[in-house]
This record gives sequence, C-alpha cells and structure tokens, in this order.
Amino acid sequence: MKHLLSTGDLTRDEAVHILDTAEELLGVAQRPIKKLPTLRGRTVVNLFFEDSTRTRISFEAAAKRLSADVITFSAKGSSTSKGEGLKDTALTLQAMGADAVVVRHSASGAPHRLAHAQWSRGAVVNAGDGTHEHPTQALLDAFTMRRHLVEGDRHQRAGVGADLAGKHVTIVGDVLHSRVARSNALLLHTLGAHVRLVAPPTLLPVGVDSWPVETSYDLDAAVEKTDVLMMLRVQEERMNASYFPSAREYSRRFGLDVARMNRLPEHAIVMHPGPMNRGMEITADVADSERSVIVEQVTNGVAVRMAVLYLLLGGAPTSDDAVSTMEGGA
Ligand code: NCD
Repeated sequence: MKHLLSTGDLTRDEAVHILDTAEELLGVAQRPIKKLPTLRGRTVVNLFFEDSTRTRISFEAAAKRLSADVITFSAKGSSTSKGEGLKDTALTLQAMGADAVVVRHSASGAPHRLAHAQWSRGAVVNAGDGTHEHPTQALLDAFTMRRHLVEGDRHQRAGVGADLAGKHVTIVGDVLHSRVARSNALLLHTLGAHVRLVAPPTLLPVGVDSWPVETSYDLDAAVEKTDVLMMLRVQEERMNASYFPSAREYSRRFGLDVARMNRLPEHAIVMHPGPMNRGMEITADVADSERSVIVEQVTNGVAVRMAVLYLLLGGAPTSDDAVSTMEGGA
C-alpha cells in the first residue's frame, strides 16, 4: 500500500490487516503514556482545505502517538481549491520533506491528483474529498462493527483476523452528499457484509445502481433485519436545492427516534460519523443511549489512523521497543 485514497483499492486481506493492526494499537491509547517511538524522525503533514474538527484532531493525535513530527495546515477558501493551489502547496511540502500528507479537500479527486501527479513523494492519505470518499472513516466504522459483532475465539480478541461476512448494515439518510456512505459501501462489501442504503429518492446519487448495495426508501421495513444502523448527517452546506419538504417530514420518515430504535434486534448498534444534527437525523436520547457507539467511533478513529500511518510509512518500526509492541499481546 503506497497511498490510501479509496476503500475500493483495498483487498479483503489488506483491510483486515489494517483492522488487526489498529486492534494492537488501541491498547496504546489505554496506557498512561500513550506514545510509541515507531515514526520518530518522520514528518506527517495534515492539509485541511475544508472545515474539520474531529478528523483533523484524530490524525494529529494518531501521528503524535507514533512520535512523528506533525505539521497541520488549515486553509479553507477558494484560492486553494483550484488545482494550481494544490500543486504549489504540494511542492512546498515536498521541499519540507513530508513523508506522509493527509489531505481533506472540498474537491472530489484532490488527493488522487496529489498522489498521481508526482507533486508529492510521500504517501497520500485521503481524509475526505468532496462528496467522494473518506476511507479512514469507513475503516474506523468497520473496526467498531467488528469489535461489537464478531466474537474472537479463545485466543483472539474482538474478531482479530475476521471480516464482517454476513452482517447487515443499513446506512440511512443523505447518501448523495456523503463520502462516508460511499467509502463504507465499498469497504463493507469487500469485508463480506450486506449493505442497504435507505434514503429519500432525491438523496440517492445518480449511479447508485452500480454500487454493491441494495437501496430502499422505507426505513421501517429495514430496521428489523439490521445489525448496524448508521445514520448520516443531513449535509445542508452542500445542498443547493430543497431535497425534502421539511425537516419535520425528513425526521418522521428517515430519522431515528427511540420508538424506531426499539424495533432493532437486541444486539444491533447505532452509529453516526459526526457531527450530528440532534433532532434531525437522530434524536438526542438515541444518540446518548446504550446502543449508540458514536463516542467509541471517535476513540477507535485514532487507533485506525495510527494503523494506516504505520503501515503506509513502511510498517518497519525502527526500534526494538516498537517491534515488540506491534508483535506482542495478540
Ligand atoms: C464526515 C465528513 O466530514 O465527511 N465527518 C467526519 O469526518 N467525522 C461526515 C459529515 O460531515 O457528515
């Protein structure tokens, strides 16, 4: 793996390997001293051309816990949203010797341009490009699902080595604007899960027929056969028209309240990538309920991003300490 641009590029074994590595690294976050020397001397640059709180902080924490030097550049605005702006920025990064560049950009395909146009020598990680993809979010979601739904055998923790074969994942809401939905659909399919998208017809993208998913307009019909219910944010900032009659009508048909949640199978979990519109796609009492793993998704995000950076930057720890940490404990 040279870059992480799309979950569609990952084989089942590569994806499982990332999840297993994250499982090892999750333990680091639970120690009093949350740091490994693995990426000492390496430079990770976070380039955020679009607003982000949790993803930016998560990548920063991940790189720092691996002892990398971290430079974060936040520049939201039109002057950097064109190809040239990106190119110049990339050349600057190259001159600074970045080993990995984590990019979030409002233009779909920006990280691919960085990776393929030889503007940047380092590894490129897509941290969300337009409405296209958000691969580390999908990986942390899959990681969270596996921890809850797949039992490890006597020797293994939380389904190490396993995929999500046969699990039913229902993704609900604004699929049209969601890079999280696309990355999840591709990855979950690779991991053997069945994916159903539930949305009003106006919020399903053109071409969804070619995705490896089923689609439906009926949330009530979908809840009973669901292991994971993933609610998506209604992305009003990307809407240039009205896609549904009113917020109230949307919530009534596509929102998750306690009555709907109670119709899920007992073991089912509720997810949301954040930030939530409480009261719109999810009620506050559902978001804060025992079935919600939303806070855990954030915690797991750091471990998954540590795994991605570790594997991209060679996966060859430079110190014995790091080697024993990566190999120990399985
Ligand atoms: C998502 C994103 O930015 O695509 N959020 C995130 O990364 N935590 C989803 C969203 O904005 O709704």
